[in-house]
Amino acid sequence: MLSLVKAQGRTLSGSFPKNFAKLDPRLTKNEMAHLKVGYSLFAKPWVQAPASTKRRDGLGPHFNAVSCMSCHAGMGRGAPPQVLHANDPSLVLKSNTDDLFNKFGDQITPKSLPGFRPEMNVKVHYEKVTRYGFDLIKPIFKNEEGEAIAVGTRISPHLAGLGLLEAIPEEEIIKNSLSGGTVSRYQGRVARFGWKASQEDLRHQVAAAFSKDMGITSSLYPHERCESGCAGYMSGADEEGVEIRDDHLEMVVTLMRGIEPPKPLHNDKEMIVKGQKVFKEISCQSCHRISYDLKEWGTIEPYTDLLLHDMGEGLADKGTLNGDMKKMWRTAPLWGLGSQRLVNGHTRLLHDGRARNVEEAILWHGGEATPSVRKFLKLEEKQKKTLLSFLNNL
Ligand code: HEC
Ligand code: HEC
Repeated sequence: MLSLVKAQGRTLSGSFPKNFAKLDPRLTKNEMAHLKVGYSLFAKPWVQAPASTKRRDGLGPHFNAVSCMSCHAGMGRGAPPQVLHANDPSLVLKSNTDDLFNKFGDQITPKSLPGFRPEMNVKVHYEKVTRYGFDLIKPIFKNEEGEAIAVGTRISPHLAGLGLLEAIPEEEIIKNSLSGGTVSRYQGRVARFGWKASQEDLRHQVAAAFSKDMGITSSLYPHERCESGCAGYMSGADEEGVEIRDDHLEMVVTLMRGIEPPKPLHNDKEMIVKGQKVFKEISCQSCHRISYDLKEWGTIEPYTDLLLHDMGEGLADKGTLNGDMKKMWRTAPLWGLGSQRLVNGHTRLLHDGRARNVEEAILWHGGEATPSVRKFLKLEEKQKKTLLSFLNNL
């Protein structure tokens, strides 16, 4: 059960034993007050309109989950289906063929309010794949009739340190691209959030989550998600206008900005120095840029260039849509790898959660990352161990 949560001291604690929700100590009193309301909007289940709780009605008609927290437990990462529960809600399915897109819009929502038909009941099973002599697994998705369907799948990432990723100046990200990688842009701005760096800032990311994942309209996404058959969004907003007000949306954004980045599990300097050395020697940092100096915010170590990279056919989305973008992924920030197991009870990684641990995540790297993986495969056993303990501590 989700239990609601007071911001006590500077930590938010819920029903989970550990979480990523350490708050930035620089938050002002006013921001703290906003953040508390933001947390309630984030954690509590939303309900169907009309309801007595006006602040939190408007769910659906189609949705993936009833609260942000159901997919980002402990501000953490979701699990793919069958890892913790048979039907974890946190894997989001994108339509990747014209057929699926015309029926369901860009995202397939498996749940609906009473009286609406759920869009599709998708089943997942895992297929064995061998890469570089290692046994890996890969998810295959099927519809109710057992036919394979082409969907793009995304697991929910953890939400710690996002305010600092937002504070990285656009010029820094553009500078990163001079040595490889592609800047993602949306309407002239550098986009940086999501597995494909599709959203330019936290306000747009949060509004998109309310709309696409929960069917809650806002001034940025004023139209209700469509019913099966109407492709995209239903015309016209709610009778009473949008379902989350601008000031409430902003409070959830304040929450997203207020969470500190994850800290390494053990502050073992020697392990970190040795690990970073191997990490650099095998060119991991050419994409997973270790640090940024953010002046007033200090130095941060997110391990990402926030750029898109061609990661090869193995990781590519299936389907016929988005041709050039299928193989492109944003370099995943590596901070938080260490805490994930403690917060979310699993070690699944990559955009669809297929990698069962850090080593498998590396073995899935292809495309532009192939030279780096080849160097990884050539590491002596001892160096490999140094690298993996370092990464599992981040
Ligand atoms: C159905 C599960 C689900 C729900 C509900 C959900 N999210 Fe997410 N969230 C995701 C997935 C999946 C992604 C990755 C999206 C992508 O790559 O485009 C994501 C990404 C994000 C990101 C970007 C993180 C990053 O590192 O770039 C933020 C911020 C976020 N969600 C906040 C929220 C908020 C706030 C809510 C509630 C309004 C919410 N999410 C509800 C699944 C969910
Ligand atoms: C060419 C750029 C590039 C290089 C080089 C690279 N990576 Fe990555 N890395 C990525 C991208 C992009 C992703 C996200 C891929 C996905 O989810 O499909 C990623 C994901 C990961 C993940 C999973 C993170 C998560 O949150 O799921 C780990 C762990 C990782 N990389 C470690 C490494 C290590 C260690 C090296 C060096 C051997 C390395 N990477 C080299 C681009 C790169």
